[in-house]
Amino acid sequence: MPTTPDLSQSPLGVFDSGVGGLTVVRALRELLPQESIIYLGDTARVPYGSKSPDTIRRFSVEDTQFLINHGVKAVVVACNTATAHALPLLQSTFRVPVIGVIEPGVEATLADGQAERVGIIGTAGTIRSSAYQYALAMRRPGLQIHAAATPLLVPFIEEGWIDQPALKLVLSEYLDPLLEKGIDTLMLGCTHYPLLMPVLEKMLGKKVRLVDSASTCAAHTRLVLEQEGLLRRSQGQTTLDIYLTDLSEQAEAMARRFLGTQFGRVKKAAL
Ligand code: DGL
Repeated sequence: MPTTPDLSQSPLGVFDSGVGGLTVVRALRELLPQESIIYLGDTARVPYGSKSPDTIRRFSVEDTQFLINHGVKAVVVACNTATAHALPLLQSTFRVPVIGVIEPGVEATLADGQAERVGIIGTAGTIRSSAYQYALAMRRPGLQIHAAATPLLVPFIEEGWIDQPALKLVLSEYLDPLLEKGIDTLMLGCTHYPLLMPVLEKMLGKKVRLVDSASTCAAHTRLVLEQEGLLRRSQGQTTLDIYLTDLSEQAEAMARRFLGTQFGRVKKAAL
């Protein structure tokens, strides 16, 4: 009798347009330390946020296929722009569970029933797709939703300009109109933005609740793996393999900053 392979032992696949998705990997490793992870960052073609929906979908299919070819048991789309445009396509194309970053953030925002006026920031592609706006409005009709594309934030974060006054000026330009609307919650709709948490907490104080997509996505991933019987129970050795489609010292340095720890050699991925 052929035996069924135990897929729970296989690694989890995670992809992003670049290295921002490593904030999700960081959250996944905190919550699911027993899981091995294969990460793909499409650094050769980043950013996705300014590209057309068709291109984002094509890139996302290629990224997912790469991870499937490496034997992953599930795929986490650690990119808001790819989730916004390609999640349904990926879920209908591939047989493994494909988990996005938007739904978990929306669930977390609405969970305690307190949110009345929600602000969302993200790339131009994410905001233009209206994926967040639809997901929120479907679950809570009547909710006030104020979305703003904030395309300058990714370059600032990638440059490491987190404490510079210039970033605070840009944030004020973007956030003041949302604050004038009286938002009580701000959704960080981009996997780069968790790095802005400290500066946003300082700027906004306790008045505005911040919801980031990295930690909410990790919690949702655990739930999906549990439901699908894919959660790894054994505590054996785990691995983190990082593949990038373009290798450079700058990308590796950035990857270390996003992940918050050291890691082994980064490998070049050919899609
Ligand atoms: N990773 C993208 C996101 O979360 C931001 C970077 C990009 O534009 O590709 O939307």
